Amino acid sequence: MSPPDDQTPPLEALISVAIDAARQAGAILVECTRTGFCVEHKQIINLVTGADREAEQRIIDVIHKAFPTHRVLAEERGLTKQPASRYQWVIDPLDGTTNFVHSFPAYCVSIGVECDGRGIIGVVYDPTRDELFTAQIGHGAFLNGVPISVSPTDHLDLALLVTGFAYDIRETPNNNLNHFARFALKVQGLRRTGTAALDLCYVAAGRFDGFWEVKLNPWDMAAGVVILREAGGRVTDFAGHTHSIYEQELVASNGPLHQAMLDILQEDITS
Ligand code: IPD
Ligand code: CA
Ligand code: CA
Repeated sequence: MSPPDDQTPPLEALISVAIDAARQAGAILVECTRTGFCVEHKQIINLVTGADREAEQRIIDVIHKAFPTHRVLAEERGLTKQPASRYQWVIDPLDGTTNFVHSFPAYCVSIGVECDGRGIIGVVYDPTRDELFTAQIGHGAFLNGVPISVSPTDHLDLALLVTGFAYDIRETPNNNLNHFARFALKVQGLRRTGTAALDLCYVAAGRFDGFWEVKLNPWDMAAGVVILREAGGRVTDFAGHTHSIYEQELVASNGPLHQAMLDILQEDITS
């Protein structure tokens, strides 16, 4: 007989637990903005708060209550020793911590689910706007239950792009400032929101036309890439190859702009 873990829960069961966990975590974040939270420095500009940790623990509790055998990769806890499972939940309990610490209302909870290494569920919840982005593989992407799709923008002159910078920006020349400068001269507008998971969802919803980052972590991308793909978008690495959330580079676009974005990212940065 198969172990319980080898049973295949319906996508609906997975997404409903992910939504429940994301909403509960979002409520914790909002409550922490009222009651206060501690702030610690992981590195000089890399922060973590009590809200990150409390939200993460709640998400893990909700998942394990429903699916006790599933693996969990969560940003603050990391990948602890866990038995093998076909299912892995990849969690960022607070994407946009710097914004959160400054009361800048751009942050979210991000929960992705993988089966056999493939992203099958994405849920991103922005508690400040009560915006819930969801996707199940093969079933499209939604914002608060309404289908979303990427923009038709086909020229960089008409494009609003977004990017971000890793916390080692001061320590390495591979810090995205070169790409930022190049794109800034080619596009209609360029933004840095400080929340990669929402950036992906905003491309999915047609609010942005494209997004790239040099050094993301799995929990920044796991949910958003499922949502973007289901909204008709394209995701690759900078070489245009298949994207993996376990590699750091990400180029995400509406599709028509993808090659133009790759061309800029592949330019000789010494020229
Ligand atoms: C960060 C945000 C930011 C991105 C950084 C991430 P965090 O995540 O997504 O937009 O530029 O690369 O590390 O630390 O706020 O969860
Ligand atoms: Ca993050
Ligand atoms: Ca985070």
